Amino acid sequence: MNRVIIPLDVSSEHEAFDLVDRLGERADFYKVGLELFTSCGPEVVRRLQRMGKRVFLDLKLHDIPNTVAGAVSAASDLGVDLLTVHASGGPTMLEAAARARRGNLRLLAVTALTSLSPDEMSAVWGREIRSVREEVGRLTLSAQHAGIDGVVASALEAPWLRGHVGADFLLVTPGIRPAGASPDDQNRVATPAEAIRAGSDYLVIGRPITQARDPEAALGAVLAEISSAEAEA
Ligand code: C5P
Repeated sequence: MNRVIIPLDVSSEHEAFDLVDRLGERADFYKVGLELFTSCGPEVVRRLQRMGKRVFLDLKLHDIPNTVAGAVSAASDLGVDLLTVHASGGPTMLEAAARARRGNLRLLAVTALTSLSPDEMSAVWGREIRSVREEVGRLTLSAQHAGIDGVVASALEAPWLRGHVGADFLLVTPGIRPAGASPDDQNRVATPAEAIRAGSDYLVIGRPITQARDPEAALGAVLAEISSAEAEA
């Protein structure tokens, strides 16, 4: 199984498919987020699928249950493989999302945005938040209870989560940096091998690959590191 998901964090179809072409066969799973989807629409997803690629549609849905269920149903029709919803949308929204998914679509919950500090979370939720990790754990278990298939989680949270959610629940991890790579704007990073050892199923890896002088070679090095981590396990 290829565990690397490449985010297409660009605003035009031209830039997106330049990168897809440069990465070639070895990249077969792409993340389409709010920027690209808002700019170019579902045609980007269809074009990736025509090339045999899997698609993670990262739209972080958060709305009333009926509206979210409609969007999940539309994503099922589009044939994407992964779609994000906000765990803080509540159990009724999450259950409606889980009921609406069909086919190969698996739903991932976003628990607490990594951009939120404990102070900001306290201000939003109206109570003191001492441990973000505790909130991530609580929201993950509520998402699993509602029938969601996995969460987006950092490699630091993955071991605890894996111990509580069982083997089948998906852990998808961004913030990956091969040893020695620039952290860019990521605060807490892990290497590909560390993330695999932590229990992550899929790794979302952007700039270390997409901004590399030779993206295909950078991806090759990451895949080799993952294979050795898997062999050790
Ligand atoms: O370039 P980089 O590897 O940092 O890209 C990581 C990708 O994962 C980006 O698309 C970013 O939006 C996404 N992501 C993240 N941290 C989260 C959730 C998503 O970096 N907590």
